[in-house]
Amino acid sequence: MRIILAQSTAEANEAVASIVYDKLQGLLNPVIGLATGRTMEPVYKILVQKVRARPLNLKQSFFFMLDEYVGLPKNHVSSFKSYIDQHVRLPLGLSEDHFAFPSVHVKDFDESAQNYERAIRESSGIDLQLLGVGQNGHVGFNEPGSSKNSRTRLVKLSPSTLVANRPSFQITENLPAEAISMGIGTIMEAKELVMLATGKNKADVIKYLVNHHNDDKCPVTYLKSHAHFVLVLDPEAASKINLNI
Ligand code: GLP
Repeated sequence: MRIILAQSTAEANEAVASIVYDKLQGLLNPVIGLATGRTMEPVYKILVQKVRARPLNLKQSFFFMLDEYVGLPKNHVSSFKSYIDQHVRLPLGLSEDHFAFPSVHVKDFDESAQNYERAIRESSGIDLQLLGVGQNGHVGFNEPGSSKNSRTRLVKLSPSTLVANRPSFQITENLPAEAISMGIGTIMEAKELVMLATGKNKADVIKYLVNHHNDDKCPVTYLKSHAHFVLVLDPEAASKINLNI
């Protein structure tokens, strides 16, 4: 694991946006795995600004989503598809053909998960997977207890995730209790992983990550076995770790 310790949140966001921009620029057929969540919003904003300032040919680019809620109506404003449309697809002027999401409006979730795995396999593989982290150590929606070899599947969201994601929903709405998420094993097959953690509410999980390996209580610790795992931190997220490590 390589840690990039930014001097500010803005610098952390900029660092991640630059990594994505460079990958989109440098590869003929870039395949990028996208994460959602509040952490990623400024990253996508900066990425869009960069592409507008220095346009890229994105005709051969392709994007896979990490996860999607199950049980929301199609095009619900809090679905991850709507998030990606709003923050990435529409501002970059890309058609839907460039994006793949786990299909959640289906009867058979196992079949949907297997189809998603096949789509990832049949692409040239994910070159760069962007990741955020949950306060309980979840990655995508691989909640505590997920296995290191897990694949894309239907998952149940933990009570703490439901609380953490509450602000993305209307006060009167029930949060979906399930999602389809890439598995840890699926994520580990990406050629590079870049995780961004910002803000003091991520300081505890980052401390845990730094001090533990392969701990199923905190799935993010599995990622330390990846040969190319970059963790980008702002000062608050890094505030509980020993900076001399
Ligand atoms: C979510 C997503 C993750 C995301 C994480 C952190 O629920 N499934 O992909 O990284 O929680 O979200 P945030 O950035 O809002 O803290």
